[in-house]
Amino acid sequence: MAKDFSTMEDSNASGNPSIHDAPLKARRQVLRGGLSAAVAGLLSPLAVQGGALTVLLSGCSAVPTAKPAAGKLGFKPVPMSNADTVAVPEGYVAQVLMPWGEPVGVPGSMPAFLHNGGNSAADQSVQMGMHHDGLAFFPLQGSDRGLLTMNHEYADHGLLFADGGKAWGPEQVLKSQAAHGLTVIEVAAQPDGTWAAVRPSRYARRVTLQTPFVVAGPAAGHALMQTAGDPSGRRVLGTLNNCAATRTPWGTYLSGEENFIGYFLGPNRPSVHETRWGLRPGESWGYRWADHDARFDAAAHPNEPHRFGWVVELDPFDPTSTPVKRTAMGRAAHEGATVALTKDGRAVVYSGEDARFEYIYKFVSRDRMQPGGAKANATLLDHGTLYVARFDADGSGRWLPLVHGQGGLTQAAGFADQGEVVIKARQASDALGGTKMDRPEWIAVDPNGHVYVTLTNNSQRGAPGRPGVDAANPRENNTGGHILRWREDGDFHAETFRWEHFVLAGDPASERPDAQGRMKGTRADAAFACPDGLWVDGRGVLWIQTDMSSSEMAPGVAFLEKEPGYIPPAAPRELLKLGNNQMLAADPRTGEIRRFLTGPKGQEITGVITTPDGRTMFVNIQHPGETPGDRSDPAHPTAFSSWPDHRPDGRPRSATVVIRKRDGGLIGT
Ligand code: FEO
Ligand code: CA
Ligand code: CA
Repeated sequence: MAKDFSTMEDSNASGNPSIHDAPLKARRQVLRGGLSAAVAGLLSPLAVQGGALTVLLSGCSAVPTAKPAAGKLGFKPVPMSNADTVAVPEGYVAQVLMPWGEPVGVPGSMPAFLHNGGNSAADQSVQMGMHHDGLAFFPLQGSDRGLLTMNHEYADHGLLFADGGKAWGPEQVLKSQAAHGLTVIEVAAQPDGTWAAVRPSRYARRVTLQTPFVVAGPAAGHALMQTAGDPSGRRVLGTLNNCAATRTPWGTYLSGEENFIGYFLGPNRPSVHETRWGLRPGESWGYRWADHDARFDAAAHPNEPHRFGWVVELDPFDPTSTPVKRTAMGRAAHEGATVALTKDGRAVVYSGEDARFEYIYKFVSRDRMQPGGAKANATLLDHGTLYVARFDADGSGRWLPLVHGQGGLTQAAGFADQGEVVIKARQASDALGGTKMDRPEWIAVDPNGHVYVTLTNNSQRGAPGRPGVDAANPRENNTGGHILRWREDGDFHAETFRWEHFVLAGDPASERPDAQGRMKGTRADAAFACPDGLWVDGRGVLWIQTDMSSSEMAPGVAFLEKEPGYIPPAAPRELLKLGNNQMLAADPRTGEIRRFLTGPKGQEITGVITTPDGRTMFVNIQHPGETPGDRSDPAHPTAFSSWPDHRPDGRPRSATVVIRKRDGGLIGT
């Protein structure tokens, strides 16, 4: 996501039950006391269940160390880097594939990318969007050819337009909207082992803000979903700010609409409901779409924001299919959605809401997955039960159902029906007492049934007037973030679980003890902060991708220091020495972490998948050259980075990187 934290959505002022407000003493036990009784209490239940799973908060010298697992991580770690390049371990190669602006391969419509930002809105609507994010691979021919489907989270107008968006009219709004959304491309291995897009391809497709979506689930047709442009409340144009992504077991693509509220111009006096969702008086985040697309003016069209913030589903194999907004999984700043199946075949979808002090959700489908792919499962995600997570201090947890009429979610409390419960999922979760988390991002499930979530950071934890630490979010001013995992008590549909911390991220060289983190591995090989992307591969390796803010990394800080009127921060910047954003591999059994990849300047690493044979990996590099203010200077587009083209007349471009082992071996070995 765009990472100017000062503009982040930060709107949970609810006074949830205080069972999470761990006393200061307990917090210190977690962070400084080694394997204190408190920590042992948190960890032991899962450790018992997990057999070998005894190394948690690894790096704690008092933790009994499990035997190193043989062979999970076989590569030599790469060092931290401040270079404007992608680095992978010895014996591996990385190749750039399909940066922003390349034509996706729509037959008869393949305009070339113009390096000066001069492409039209129509061009952009059939070219790769900006800011590649979550991705998935759908095989067409084993591991040699398939569909790569991905999100384009946001747009940097400073790079998108030759003049940085100085001239602003309907054409510019359309181009910005066309740079958002989803992409389907066909990709294939070439005889020399490299990969290329197949162009033209009958599968090639862009989904943008102009693409019709159907609304399904309890909010479909609801009065709160009806607008002047769509009195039915069942048809929405477009998706935006899509982050994490996943391939469902029935062969579709799921993507989350994350920080959707920032695209809306707020009314002068937002209601309590609008304020809870982050609408600001007379303000948007600078996209200026409302200037020429009235539906993004929330004062004029107060229901339009209700039509975003959903998990969306796309069938990439059918280029004529209409994508769907699945409202049964609740409205939220959804980072993404991750699917597990119960033993009897029901779909369980986990999803975090990436905003400070927001929630983690789980949806359990009523019906079982059927053989027959997307069409046979067209309503699977429309019927079921939505829950919000509560993490208790004793290491247990409970899923609290967001069901109309239960737990106080009644008409009298402001929830007329289930449609209103899902549209106002935040208020429902406030009322139920969900645990307010440190920005839940990606979620991944390992073969042992552990569910992992990245909590990327939360500098406001423990700040005056903000929620204090709790057992699950144990650090004030959480600059480094952490990864937490749980296992359901029984199958994935269970209503209770046991949880623990997998790693507390940070820089072991930090002056502030709480910022040092706890990770198993040396600082040189394993230190990282701000985990975001997360995925478990076929061998059970947990891949961790980082998203430190460009305003906290060395190139961004150097830029800020030259700004007139620069005021140095009161405390040392704690991420400054961790280099550029990176990807690491972790062995879930031992907690061992090794750095696998470092990216170019200013970017975040986000989105990872391999071909089914595990021998080709696709990773997305997002927003290389991002400035601390998120908006590039069109006069100096390469001020921070010129990756991947390194053309003096060009501009940095998000892109997919294809990683292979030179000997054709499994990635990670
Ligand atoms: Fe879009 Fe939460 O990163
Ligand atoms: Ca992020
Ligand atoms: Ca993300």
